[in-house]
Amino acid sequence: MSKLNILAICGSTRAQSTNLSLIKAIKHLFLEQLEIEIYSGLSELPHFNPDLNDTKEVSLFKDKIKAASGVLICTPEYAMGVPGSLKNALDWTVASMEFSQKPVLLITASSSGEKAHTSLLETLKVIEAIIPEECQLLISYAKTKIKNDEITDDITHSKVVTAVNAFTSLLHQE
Ligand SMILES: Cc1cc2nc3c(=O)[nH]c(=O)nc-3n(C[C@H](O)[C@H](O)[C@H](O)COP(=O)(O)O)c2cc1C
Repeated sequence: MSKLNILAICGSTRAQSTNLSLIKAIKHLFLEQLEIEIYSGLSELPHFNPDLNDTKEVSLFKDKIKAASGVLICTPEYAMGVPGSLKNALDWTVASMEFSQKPVLLITASSSGEKAHTSLLETLKVIEAIIPEECQLLISYAKTKIKNDEITDDITHSKVVTAVNAFTSLLHQE
């Protein structure tokens, strides 16, 4: 079976991000099944403004979403909400609907994360992403569970594998 092509978006732009580490761990764990491209352009997207035409960076971002079989989003929570750079990226897709009917796996990995997780689910539903309950995972106290591109906590490891397997099954049904 050919590998599924996944675009991974990290909601943190920090070099030592736990969420980036989590994406790399998933990439390694599912090397046989998934071709995961880690999107690196979040910081280059301009501030969303509906008056503006898409820049080169925005068009590239949209093309990558369109080309992917599914999108993996891993993000922290900042100040009880979704990190601004991630929300900004999603806002660029609202009118053009690149996420419509696109399977998404959302993992919020943060100190707490509940508010960002709930808020992101609302946004993803409004932009018509396919995001069943099995493809939604909240990992609190994330820094104690993910280190050096590995999921070090056994229960979290198992939950991540279960969620990615559910996502993979969903992608095969599409
Ligand atoms: C300015 C700031 C605000 C934060 N606010 C929250 C918050 O409201 N809720 C939460 O769960 N974590 C919060 N955190 C903690 C981050 O979620 C945590 O450091 C997380 O590991 C960052 O993700 P990263 O390691 O992928 O960069 C905050 C961190 C910073 C720097």
